[in-house]
Amino acid sequence: MAHILAPSLLSADFTDLRSAVKLVDESPAQWLHLDVMDGVFVPNISYGPSLIKAIRPLTKKVFDTHLMIVDPDRYISVFKDAGSDVLTVHLEACTHLHRTVQAIKAAGMKAGVSLNPHTSVNGLEDIIADLDLVLVMSVNPGFGGQKFIANTYSKLNRLRDLRAQKGSHALLEVDGGVGMDNRDELLKNGADVLVAGNSVFGANDPVSAIKALMAA
Ligand code: DX5
Ligand code: ZN
Repeated sequence: MAHILAPSLLSADFTDLRSAVKLVDESPAQWLHLDVMDGVFVPNISYGPSLIKAIRPLTKKVFDTHLMIVDPDRYISVFKDAGSDVLTVHLEACTHLHRTVQAIKAAGMKAGVSLNPHTSVNGLEDIIADLDLVLVMSVNPGFGGQKFIANTYSKLNRLRDLRAQKGSHALLEVDGGVGMDNRDELLKNGADVLVAGNSVFGANDPVSAIKALMAA
């Protein structure tokens, strides 16, 4: 399967989001990654469902919403209404993760669970069969443009094993510090979806950057 690229809007020019969404819309990237931060789960505050709803009419690309918020259950229907297709919550932010995952699916979205860099893949043992996606944080969440953590490669391999062992069909997504310097290695180690913020929107030519990151 060809991998999926999800440019992250967090690194776009916030004074010209229409152009940023248009750029992704007209590019071959399949998904648009949307980072929601609450200033509690992570030390930064980004944007919320009203922004997602506002840009929804601008593209039909898959909206890949990454919730970096505490107690995300409160907002599942809100993000569905805003137009999210995939909704990812953090394992570290959910006390009743199974219930949260079922609620996301019942709302009509694909369910993802994200792991912080220190969180072991073993925590997914009893839930991975229910997931559509596992998002591996390859930086500590909160900011774009950080340095990639190399332990991600072995984590991907452990997740691949766990996925096979549990008969799961979850896609493996990598988020943080992804660029041309590590994309081949990430794909070799089993990444299905690559998130790219700075390496797309920080590039002189974002469209070429998308194409390069997507090349087979
Ligand atoms: C970080 C976010 C990422 C961020 C990635 O907390 O979850 O999605 O946008 O940005 P880069 O690709 O610049 O590391
Ligand atoms: Zn993200």
